[in-house]
Amino acid sequence: MAATLDINGKPVTVQAAPETPLLWVLRDELGLTGTKYGCGIAQCGACTVHANGAAIRSCQAPIGSLAGVKITTIEGLAGTHPLQAAWVKLDVPQCGYCQSGQIMSAAALLAKTPKPADGDIDAAMSGNICRCGAYQRIRAAIKDAAGVVAA
Ligand code: FES
Ligand code: FES
Repeated sequence: MAATLDINGKPVTVQAAPETPLLWVLRDELGLTGTKYGCGIAQCGACTVHANGAAIRSCQAPIGSLAGVKITTIEGLAGTHPLQAAWVKLDVPQCGYCQSGQIMSAAALLAKTPKPADGDIDAAMSGNICRCGAYQRIRAAIKDAAGVVAA
């Protein structure tokens, strides 16, 4: 079955059933492998992308629910987002596996709340697990990108 999605500003037609999770389409059909598979049950955040600017878990987003929705993946940030510069500057990743999801959640946060307080960061990032425990650097990089003095 054909479905048309709006991915990183371009219309894309894929052959997949409506119940197919977006994550599968991104990785297996479109080759957008920056979005990662972690748990598959909306518990880790590795698969986070934006849907009309909001952070969603693509492993639990059936493509049939995404008609007319603007999807942005880590590839859509194109390496030019201030968060990506802050990530490099502060050498945030360890193994790196969780990092695209972390950046996508943080980008959705900053789009809505450009100068987030600690509580805002906690609320936005609590669903993104990092098994390497890079949480301090993640927080510092979000503050750096936001122009907020790191605590
Ligand atoms: S793979 Fe989607 S939240 Fe873990
Ligand atoms: S950097 Fe390894 S899981 Fe986060």
